[in-house]
Amino acid sequence: MHGLLLSLLAGTALAKNVIEDYDVLRYIDPLIGSSNGGNVFPGAALPYGMAKAVADTNSESNQGGFAYDGSNVTGFSSMHDSGTGGSPSLGNFPLFPYKACAGDTVDGCVFPKVSRATPYVNGSVQASPGYFGITLASGVHVDMTVSHHASLFRFRFPQNSSPLVLLDLSDLSDSRQDNATISVDTELGRMTGSAPFLPSFGSGEYTLHFCADFKTPGATQDEGIRDGGIFVDARASTDVHDLKISRSINGYPLPGGGFFRFKTPPQGTVEARVGVSFISPMQACINAENEIKPGKWDFDFEATHKTAVQQWTDKMAPIRVSRNGVKTSVLTNFYSGIYRTMMNPQNYTGENPLWTSSEPYFDSFYCLWDSFRSQIPFLTLIDPSSVAQMVRSLIDTQRHLGWLPDCRMSLCKGYTQGGSNADNILVDAYVKGLTDGIDWDAGYAAVQKDAEVEPYDWSNEGRGGLQSWKRLQYIPVEDFDHEGFGTLTRSISRTLEYSYNDFAISQMAQGMKKTADAEKYQKASGAWRNLFKADQTSYRNTTDTGFKGFFQPKYLNQTWGYQDPLKCSNIDTSGSICSLQNNAAETFESSIWEYQFFVPHDMAALIPLLGGPNGFVKRLDYLHDQKITYIGNEPAFLTVYQYHYAGRPAKSTARVRTYIPDYFSPTPAGLPGNDDSGAMGSFVAMSMMGMFPNPGQSVYLITVPFFEAVSITNPLTGNEATIRVINFDKFNSLNNTGGSGFIQSATMNGKPYTKNWVSHDFFTEGHDLVLVLGRNESTWGTGPQDIPPSLSDSSSGTVSARSLDDTFDDFGFGDAVVGRRHAHLDTHARMARDGSHFRGV
Ligand SMILES: *[C@@H]1O[C@H](CO)[C@@H](O)[C@H](O)[C@H]1NC(C)=O
Ligand SMILES: *[C@@H]1O[C@H](CO)[C@@H](O)[C@H](O)[C@H]1NC(C)=O
Ligand SMILES: *[C@@H]1O[C@H](CO)[C@@H](O)[C@H](O)[C@H]1NC(C)=O
Ligand SMILES: *[C@@H]1O[C@H](CO)[C@@H](O)[C@H](O)[C@H]1NC(C)=O
Ligand SMILES: *[C@@H]1O[C@H](CO)[C@@H](O)[C@H](O)[C@H]1NC(C)=O
Ligand SMILES: *[C@@H]1O[C@H](CO)[C@@H](O)[C@H](O)[C@H]1NC(C)=O
Ligand SMILES: *[C@@H]1O[C@H](CO)[C@@H](O)[C@H](O)[C@H]1NC(C)=O
Ligand SMILES: *[C@@H]1O[C@H](CO)[C@@H](O)[C@H](O)[C@H]1NC(C)=O
Repeated sequence: MHGLLLSLLAGTALAKNVIEDYDVLRYIDPLIGSSNGGNVFPGAALPYGMAKAVADTNSESNQGGFAYDGSNVTGFSSMHDSGTGGSPSLGNFPLFPYKACAGDTVDGCVFPKVSRATPYVNGSVQASPGYFGITLASGVHVDMTVSHHASLFRFRFPQNSSPLVLLDLSDLSDSRQDNATISVDTELGRMTGSAPFLPSFGSGEYTLHFCADFKTPGATQDEGIRDGGIFVDARASTDVHDLKISRSINGYPLPGGGFFRFKTPPQGTVEARVGVSFISPMQACINAENEIKPGKWDFDFEATHKTAVQQWTDKMAPIRVSRNGVKTSVLTNFYSGIYRTMMNPQNYTGENPLWTSSEPYFDSFYCLWDSFRSQIPFLTLIDPSSVAQMVRSLIDTQRHLGWLPDCRMSLCKGYTQGGSNADNILVDAYVKGLTDGIDWDAGYAAVQKDAEVEPYDWSNEGRGGLQSWKRLQYIPVEDFDHEGFGTLTRSISRTLEYSYNDFAISQMAQGMKKTADAEKYQKASGAWRNLFKADQTSYRNTTDTGFKGFFQPKYLNQTWGYQDPLKCSNIDTSGSICSLQNNAAETFESSIWEYQFFVPHDMAALIPLLGGPNGFVKRLDYLHDQKITYIGNEPAFLTVYQYHYAGRPAKSTARVRTYIPDYFSPTPAGLPGNDDSGAMGSFVAMSMMGMFPNPGQSVYLITVPFFEAVSITNPLTGNEATIRVINFDKFNSLNNTGGSGFIQSATMNGKPYTKNWVSHDFFTEGHDLVLVLGRNESTWGTGPQDIPPSLSDSSSGTVSARSLDDTFDDFGFGDAVVGRRHAHLDTHARMARDGSHFRGV
C-alpha cells in the first residue's frame, strides 16, 4: 500500500511538469444522470462500496434510488445499484423520519410506503463523493455518509420534535418474499432483521440482513429512546418488539417493520448507523461496529465522511488533466464520468454466502454486455489491481457456479443479452498483462467452456445454439436447439458477438501457446461472414438508402430470412420489440444498421464488404447523421471511433465532438440513457482523454483530447503516460468545451509517430505522446501502415490478398499495401501478450 502510494507520488512529481496537481473532488457532481433516465445512484458510497446511502423516491425511474425529478421521498436506504435498467435494484430496509406523530400516538404516524411518500425542499439536495443531504417538506434535514458495509444517517429535526424513525422491511421494487423478520431492542437502541428479495434483472432470490443502531447526540440514556415496537400494515404497537411477516395473500408484500420514538433530542439530532450483510444480522452488526465507531453519544459522522473523501481522492490520483483554457463544466463532466465507473461492480468480498473461498467476490456486474466496452478497460488504466480482483471474482464464480456471468446482481444470475461477454473482459485483462493473483489457466478454462458447452438455461449464462454454431458457423433464425433453453431471438447479434468472443478466446490461447485452440477459435471468429448478404438493400419506407450488403438472418436450412436493416434502430417508429422476449428481433436493442460495424477484430475484412474505406466511411456517416444509432446505448460507442480503421482518425475526432457535450452534459438530465453501472461515464472519460479502447485488444484509438494535457500514472508500474496537445489554445473555439482542431502530426517520446493508435504499453511504460493541432483534417494517421491491426492482416490466408488490395485501392493507396502487410505481420501474435508494437518507434 505504502509502496504504491510512494510510486504514485513519484509519478506525480515526475509529471514532466505538465500539469499542476489540484483537488479533483470539487469537479465531481454525483447528481449527473440522476434524472431523465440516467438512473445514476447519486448518494454516498465508497469506491466499489457495498453500502450506498441515499434518499429513495417514488419516481417511475428510481432504479438508482433517488431520481432528481421532483418525485417524493419514500425513505432512506443503504443498498443500491447505479445506472441500471431493469426493475429498481435493492433499496432494502429504508428508514423514514417523522418529527412527531399526530396526537402523540404511534398510529398518528403513517407507516406504509405509498402513503408516507413526502416532497422535499427544492434546492436542498447536496451531493459530493461520500455525502448526500436533503431536507424533507416536514423540515427534517437528513444527511448521510458511508463506510464499506454501513451507512450513517443523521436526522436533524425541527425544535421541540418528538421524533419517530421507522425501518421498513421492503425494497425499491416491493419484491420482498415470505418470512421477513425484525427485532427491536429499545434497551440497546438496535433493530436487527432479515428479508428475502428478488434480483432486478435475473433469476433466483437473495436474503439481506441489517443491523441498525440509533443514537441521540447529547442525550443521556434516559433522554434518548422513548419507546419502540413494530408496525404491520398501517398499525403500530409499542408492546410488540418482534415481527415475522409474510407476503399478503395476493403476493404483494404487506407493509411491516419496526420503529423507535425519541424524547426531544437535546441537539435536535438522531443518528442511525445501518450495517448490512448477506451473511447474517450478526455479521451486519459486526460490519457496522468495525467500520463506524460509536462515541459516547453519537457516531463520528465527520471521521466517517473524511475516510470516504480520502478513498475517493486516492482512487482519482492516477489521472489528471490540464485545466488550461477549459470551462469548469468540462472538468466536471470528465471527473464525474470517472467517478461513476467506480460505483459498480461492488466489492462483496467476505459477504458471499453462496460458497467458501479465499478469492475476492464482486457483484453487480450489471451487465458485462455494457461494461466490457469501455468501463472495465478504463479501470484497467487507473485501477488495475481492482480489475484483477474483479477478474478473479469472475473466474471464482465460474469455478463454483459452473459459468461466467454475463450479468450478475444481488448474488443472483442476471440475464444474458447476447454473447458470453465475460470472455471479452477476461481477455482484455489478459492481453493487458494483468497478473496479480489471477489464475489464468482457470480463466482460460472458463472462457473455453463458454465456447464449447451449452448450458441448460442459457438465458442466464453461456451461449445458446452451440450445436448449430459449430455445425453451420452461425446462429440460425428459429434455431432447433434441444440442448438448452433461452429465447430463440437475436440470431444476428448473437452470431456477431459469439464471433468476437471466439476471437477473444483465440487471443488468450495464442498467448498461452495453445496453438491448435488459437487456430480453432480464430477460424470460428470469422463466422460473422456467414450472415453477410451481399445483395441486401436497405430502404427507408420507399426510399433506397443507397447502400448494398447487410447482415441478414439465415435459417437452419441455410436459406435467408429477412429483417429490415433499420428495424430496432433509433428511427424505427413501428414499435418493434428488440429485447429478450420471444418473437423479438434478430438484433438485440439495436439494428442491423448498427450491428453491421460489430466486427472489432477484423475491420480489414469487414471494410471491403461495406464498400471499401470510402463506402465504409459513408455508412458510418449515414449511421450517425441520420440518427439511426443512439449514443445512449453501448453498441454505439465503438462506431464513433471506427473511422480510424478506414484511415480517417479526424472523422472520429469530429464525431465524438457531436456527442460530447451535447448528449453528455454535466447536469442531472445530462445523460442520453441509463448510465449502466458507469458504462456511459467511461465513454465520457475515455473520449475526453482522447484514447478510446477497442476492448479485448491492446489497442487504443487516438483522438484529440478535450484538454491541453492528460496524465495517467499506472498504479502498478508508477510510470506516467502523458498526452499533450500543441496549439490547443488556437483551436479551443468551441466555447471552451475543448479543442476544435485536428491532428497534423505527432511525436512519441520525441520521435515522429504516425500510427493512429497506441497499445497498452503506452500506459504501463509511461510514454509521452504529443499531438500538434491544425484547423483541418490532415494526412496524419491515414496511411495503411497507420491503422490498428486486424485479424486478417496477420493470419495466413484467411483473407485473400485481393480483398486487402481492394481495400486500399479504393482508398487510393495502391502500392502502399505492401508496406502495410509487413508492418502488421504477426501483430496479433505480439498483441497477445506484451503489445510491443510501439517499442522502437
Ligand atoms: C422544484 O423542482 C422541480 C423539479 O426538480 C421543478 O419542476 C419545480 O419547478 C421546482 N419548484 C420550485 C418552486 O422551484
Ligand atoms: C408528492 O406529495 C405531494 C404531497 O403529498 C402530492 O401532492 C404529490 O402529488 C406527490 N407527488 C408524487 C409524484 O407522488
Ligand atoms: C415461513 O414461515 C412459515 C411458518 O414458520 C413456514 O411454514 C413457511 O414454510 C415459511 N416460508 C418460507 C418461504 O420459508
Ligand atoms: C474488497 O474487499 C476486500 C475485503 O474487505 C478487501 O481486502 C479488498 O482490498 C477490496 N478490494 C477492492 C478493490 O477494494
Ligand atoms: C417512414 O415514414 C413514416 C411516415 O412518414 C415516418 O414516420 C418514419 O420515420 C419513416 N421511417 C423511416 C425508417 O424513415
Ligand atoms: C428453409 O426454411 C424456411 C423456414 O422454415 C422456409 O421458409 C424455407 O422455405 C426453407 N427453404 C428451403 C429451400 O427449404
Ligand atoms: C457558443 O456560445 C454561444 C453563446 O452562448 C452560442 O450562441 C453558440 O451556439 C455556442 N457555440 C457552440 C459551437 O457551442
Ligand atoms: C480548411 O477547411 C476550411 C473549411 O472547412 C477551408 O475553407 C480551408 O480552405 C481549409 N484550409 C486548408 C489549409 O486546407
